[in-house]
Amino acid sequence: MVESRLFKPLKIGNVEVKHRIGMAPLTRRRATRDRVPTPMMKEYYSQRASVPGTLIISEGVLVSPSGAGGFAHVPGIWSQDQVAAWKTITDEIHRKGCFVFCQLFAMGRAGDVETAQKEGIDIIGPSAIPLAKGAPIPRAMTITEIRQMTQDFATASENAVKAGFDGVECHGANGYLLDQFLHDTSNQRNDEYGGSVENRSRFLSDVMKAMVDAIGPERVGLRLSPWSSFQIVRMENPIPQFTDVVNKASKLNLAYLHLVESRVDGAVDCETEAPERLDFAYDIWDKPLLVAGGYKLANAQKLVDEEYPNKDIMVIIGRHFVSNPDLVYRFKEGLKLNAYNRDTFYVVESSVGSSEVAILRSQDALRMPAIESTKAETRWTTRIVPVVLAVAVAYATYVVVARVCVKYLLGSLDETGAAIAILVLYFFFFLFMISTYARTLYHANFNPGVVPLGPRAVERQKAMGEKRMMQSYGTDDVEGRAYGAGPSNDPDSPGLECFYSRDAFVCEPDGRPKWCSECCNWKQDRVHHSREIGRCVHRMDHYCPWAGGMIAENSFKFFVQFTTYTASFCAVVLGASAYVLRRQVQLGASPDSYLIAVIAIAAFFGLFSFFMTVTAVRYILLNMTNVDILSFHQKVYHLAVRVPRGTRSDRFGVIVYPLTMRGTSSHSRMSGKYERAGQQSGDLSATSRDDLATRTFAVLETNPGENPWDLGYRRNWQSVMGTNPLDWLLPIRHSPCTNHENSESIYPMDCILDQLRSRYGLPTGPPSDENTVMEMRGLRS
Ligand SMILES: Cc1cc2nc3c(=O)[nH]c(=O)nc-3n(C[C@H](O)[C@H](O)[C@H](O)COP(=O)(O)O)c2cc1C
Ligand SMILES: [Zn+2]
Repeated sequence: MVESRLFKPLKIGNVEVKHRIGMAPLTRRRATRDRVPTPMMKEYYSQRASVPGTLIISEGVLVSPSGAGGFAHVPGIWSQDQVAAWKTITDEIHRKGCFVFCQLFAMGRAGDVETAQKEGIDIIGPSAIPLAKGAPIPRAMTITEIRQMTQDFATASENAVKAGFDGVECHGANGYLLDQFLHDTSNQRNDEYGGSVENRSRFLSDVMKAMVDAIGPERVGLRLSPWSSFQIVRMENPIPQFTDVVNKASKLNLAYLHLVESRVDGAVDCETEAPERLDFAYDIWDKPLLVAGGYKLANAQKLVDEEYPNKDIMVIIGRHFVSNPDLVYRFKEGLKLNAYNRDTFYVVESSVGSSEVAILRSQDALRMPAIESTKAETRWTTRIVPVVLAVAVAYATYVVVARVCVKYLLGSLDETGAAIAILVLYFFFFLFMISTYARTLYHANFNPGVVPLGPRAVERQKAMGEKRMMQSYGTDDVEGRAYGAGPSNDPDSPGLECFYSRDAFVCEPDGRPKWCSECCNWKQDRVHHSREIGRCVHRMDHYCPWAGGMIAENSFKFFVQFTTYTASFCAVVLGASAYVLRRQVQLGASPDSYLIAVIAIAAFFGLFSFFMTVTAVRYILLNMTNVDILSFHQKVYHLAVRVPRGTRSDRFGVIVYPLTMRGTSSHSRMSGKYERAGQQSGDLSATSRDDLATRTFAVLETNPGENPWDLGYRRNWQSVMGTNPLDWLLPIRHSPCTNHENSESIYPMDCILDQLRSRYGLPTGPPSDENTVMEMRGLRS
């Protein structure tokens, strides 16, 4: 437990936070095209509200359609739908004992032309000065437009309060519209909004006043990035300009001032470590200060405990909060942080990444032990087999090098060329065999793609101590029983969001995902429970005693490479020894018994690995695993496929996510029964705000023997082996299919989805935005 002022409470406006680590505004682009927040966003914020008393600043939220200026999938807060959907999120954050301010902004000249065109609006700015060479030239705003935008910020503030936010943050940072007015490099107006320090501050100052008038100063904060050159050309000396702004904010008595350190530019680190200081602003401001930019536990502590022990500073963290939803907890306990992955920051509408969810749910993922079989015999086999293999390889090396090459080919037979050829081939395959074996061994044992246990399973495991939890729960990994002991009937049952935030997933006939009653967890597509190790595994193939671990998604590619190289290695040993043996027989010498023994061994292992290779390659080409192939011809999959809201049919059932709480809803969306069309009538009339943020799925059945993941030989091959022939040969990069960031489904299944949609008379492709708009209208009317 870390001791620091960081963990002391602080009053900010009307809220009293329990510690001084806040979440930074982070644009994630997960709203709909109509800028309505999605259920996935609710889950995302809910996870980050995991430590009560945390202050969260929302991602940048656009104040009005004209201020939107093109940034697709960024949320807004002007329409009823948007306010309603935000309310579900703020309610959730409050339910978890946390607080949330809404960051309000307008793009100005930073807008994207294509999006702006689609939305029928102009790219505007203080002056007709583009962001950079080649960027769109903004149209200078008229005075009327500036006044309208000022009003838009006030209206958005009121809407934010209606949506349940504890306050709003005026986004005057990072080169967006308000910041553009501050810098003389982007504002060269000669009216009352430009030309002097005072005039350049006017727009931001008017906006702050309007916001304060609308909702009160204790609910308004201000964010500035005086030293940033992100989306802006920094003015020569920003201090006078920003001093003026901070003075004005101070007079307005705002709840807080939020400053970005010079060591970051937007969302990336600068080369130099904080060369410019924020002291000029610290000196003016005597209320709570929020400070962001490159903070981790150590420098955050230093800032609040050593550098400014007399200031009320809250440290705001951005990127680490993306990959560590439980960041505050980790800071408190001094735990290691997960690395963030920049590639997932702005993936439009993508699920926030199931890994992020998994991390939160399972602290045990942090200290995952090496995977071992639950069966004693297997554990022993696992220990003995590598020794046997090592002895066999050592013996083969001795025979091939010392006897075949040195003694016979170089010695008595005098065939130098053949000896060199054999040695080169031998060591080539030897090297590849060993390296692919090492790679397989590592992943099969330490990184097999195990799914973290659900909370109840973690408790059960604790209760049972170190005893292996499997014995009493032994079942087959082949799905059959739907819910066994049953998932909790809590519709918020953690993990469901990983499913309904995508467009399709494998489900039970009732539309809920499959459930593992041993791991107490929802099973994502192609997750199977392994009896051998007592855990659920992604794209499980088989437990391999040779590798002493689980061959599954993470290791399958290396495993195939290993069997291929082993077969080739055995062929070399066999060929070389047989050749020399034949020569000996031809020359009438008595055959060397070492050679005969090594031929037998190489033939045995060679044939074995050859057949393994053939089987594995077949699986790869069919996109199957050892598990899928069982009873494959009769197997029928149920798939939940997203459809426009309100879709009905007698041919399939539908299920609406998120599921509603049992007993609190007038309509039964769940409890094990999905609705058949026509059975429920009142559903659509229930225009509670939650309905605006729901997703509807049709439950469709495949034909027996249809493989949902079959994408054709070529794509099947590439999904496991990679697109580049070098990847096929070298045991370096992981299979592309191990990346689960696809927003449609965990593993691509576009072929089957198209077929199913047309088979069931549904529009092809994921539901379009027109549909969503119509759904919205349908709900409102
Ligand atoms: C993915 C991402 C999105 C961001 N979106 C916003 C935003 O909407 N508004 C904003 O003021 N800053 C935004 N920022 C900047 C962060 O709020 C923060 O200032 C920056 O990441 C530095 O903090 P860090 O070093 O803790 O990540 C974003 C940063 C990242 C990484
Ligand atoms: Zn399981």
